[in-house]
Formats: sequence, C-alpha cells, structure tokens
Amino acid sequence: MILVTGGAGYIGSHVVLALQAAGFGVLVLDNLSHGHREFVPPEILQTMDLEDRAGLARLFAEHPIEAVVHMAAFIEVGESVRKPDVYYRNNVYGTLCLLEAMVAAEVRALVFSSTCAIYGEPQALPLTEEHPQHPLSPYGAGKMTVERILGDFDAAYALRSVAFRYFNAAGAHPEVRIGEDHRPESHLIPLVLDAAMGRRSLITIFGEDYSTPDGTCVRDYIHVCDLADSHVLGVKYLLGGGASNAFNLGNGNGFSVREVIETVERVSGRQVTIQVGARRPGDPAVLVGSSARARQLLGWTPRFDSLETIVSTAWDWHQYRFE
Ligand SMILES: NC(=O)c1ccc[n+]([C@@H]2O[C@H](COP(=O)([O-])OP(=O)(O)OC[C@H]3O[C@@H](n4cnc5c(N)ncnc54)[C@H](O)[C@@H]3O)[C@@H](O)[C@H]2O)c1
Repeated sequence: MILVTGGAGYIGSHVVLALQAAGFGVLVLDNLSHGHREFVPPEILQTMDLEDRAGLARLFAEHPIEAVVHMAAFIEVGESVRKPDVYYRNNVYGTLCLLEAMVAAEVRALVFSSTCAIYGEPQALPLTEEHPQHPLSPYGAGKMTVERILGDFDAAYALRSVAFRYFNAAGAHPEVRIGEDHRPESHLIPLVLDAAMGRRSLITIFGEDYSTPDGTCVRDYIHVCDLADSHVLGVKYLLGGGASNAFNLGNGNGFSVREVIETVERVSGRQVTIQVGARRPGDPAVLVGSSARARQLLGWTPRFDSLETIVSTAWDWHQYRFE
C-alpha cells in the first residue's frame, strides 16, 4: 500500500488514480485545507494534518504502507514571501513530522514533490539537476531544504527518496472528473481559461520585452497525467531498491505566455482580453528543464506533450467545473 499525502489536491488526485491503475492499494492523507473531498474515493481518505504525529503513527501502525508519495504542501510562491513562517512550518516542519513517523515505522521509501523553483534565475538552459540552487522565495527555499533533509535521512536512516522537481503542471485527466482548482488560482492556464469563460474580465501579461521570440516569458508545461505516471515509476524504482536521486519533470518544450493565450482562444473558440503590465520581480525570461535523467533512469516518457492537448484537457475540465 502507498500513502499519498496531499492526494485530494490537483496533482495528488491524478497520482492516486495512476497508482491504483498500476495495481497499488492507496491511502490518502489530506487536511483538505486546499484539497477537494470529491477528488478522492471516501474509503481511502484520511482527513489529517501532517503535524498530527499521533495520527501518523496510527496510520503507519494500522496499514501495510510500503512507500509514501509526499505531495502535501502550500504552493503559492507570492504568499510564501508574505508569510514565510506559515510556509516553512507547513512544508518543512510538516515534512519532518512525516519523516519521523516513517523512520519509526521503518518505512524507507519516499517520493517527494519538489519544484523547479529551487533553481532560481537560470544560468544555463535547459535546466539540469546539477544547476546551482538559489531559490528566490521561501516556497522554493523550503523545498530545497526538504531535499537536503532527505539526503541526511538517507545517510542516517537509509530512508531512500526520489525528489521530483516539477516544472508547470497543467491539463486535466481526459476521462475522470478531476482537474486544477486552486483557490486562489495563480497558474497561467486556468487564469486564461477563466478569462475565456468570462470568469475574469482580462488577463495581464507581465512584461513583453523579454529576450524571447515574442517578448513574453517562456515556461515548461507538463501534463498532470504525465506527472502522475512518473510517480508510479518513482515508487517502483524505490521499491526495486533504486538509490536516492532528484529528477526534473518537464516537457522540455517551452511555450510563451502569448502562445498559451492563442492556444486557449483556438481550443475554446472564445476571445481573451489582454492587458500588458510591467515585469514582475523574480520572473526569469525562460524556464525550461531537461528531463533526460527521468527518461533514462526511470524510463519515463511524456504522452501528452503538445500544448494543444494540455490546454484542451484543461478546457474540458474547466467547463465542467466552472460553467
Ligand atoms: N502545481 C504545480 O505546478 C506544482 C509545481 C511544482 C511543485 N508542485 C508541488 O506539487 C504538490 C502538489 O501541488 P498541487 O498543485 O496539486 O497543489 P494542491 O494545493 O492542489 O494540493 C496540495 C494538497 O496538500 C494538502 N495539504 C497542504 N498542507 C497539508 C498538511 N499540512 N497536511 C495535510 N494535507 C495538506 C492540501 O489540502 C491539498 O489537497 C505540492 O507539494 C507542490 O509544492 C506543484
């Protein structure tokens, strides 16, 4: 059985489905602070906080958990700048509570949701796992700190881990009614979909004078089902005795803000009103990752890597959820 923390969230709910499809029993731990009860079958949901040490000990005692996929975290970069205490507490201390419970229960395999935000301003592209780490926010610094802690726990307690450094998760499950619903929403694709749907009046492009082909920022979008597949491979890798490692998970293709907006307009058949604003501090021109290591060591191959597919699955979900 695999314990998935944050399994009622956007990415977590897709990971739960992928693990079940691969034949694993799954238990979800989520405090529903940002998750959605309806994304998870009720019989596998444990509504619990990461800091509930007694609850964690009970979970590990009562269930034959072989590995943990740890996705529970607060995820808003801007909020983490305003409330670093809240972010370090939830994302770092919360993780420590989980790791202590794992060590006590002798569960020694963990897949961790890390982020490309640990790299900071790119010094070379595409970003590889060896790129220096200079995170620009408490959110990124917290994830980097957890990766460091994971290294120490491997050395001290033989707790092996895979840290997946996601680029921008996007899209939705093509068949099951789950998808992106962050409140508040801060990700570009759902915001542009909101504008297409009339849920917001316009979309602001923050800077169009970057040194990119159309002047707007370029980001690496990865379909949430491709992310979910990688977690199944990560779990199998660890259960098969694989050594601790960190892996970028991106699509390798960058798409600009303008390309995203044009694709939303094409897929939805609706017009999006645009306003151009100033650059936001700390927004690099291009963030694109190399996922060669995940492809080579885990045999991971993204299936939904066109922007058209990513946007059209997101649009189907968005219409179902919000219209
Ligand atoms: N969305 C992205 O593009 C992206 C990019 C890089 C990394 N990540 C990481 O992926 C993970 C999942 O992100 P998401 O987009 O699905 O976010 P999400 O907010 O939809 O999911 C996170 C889940 O964790 C739960 N949670 C938070 N703190 C908790 C706690 N203390 N105890 C129990 N449950 C708690 C929330 O209720 C929520 O269901 C996060 O760790 C995030 O940092 C996401």
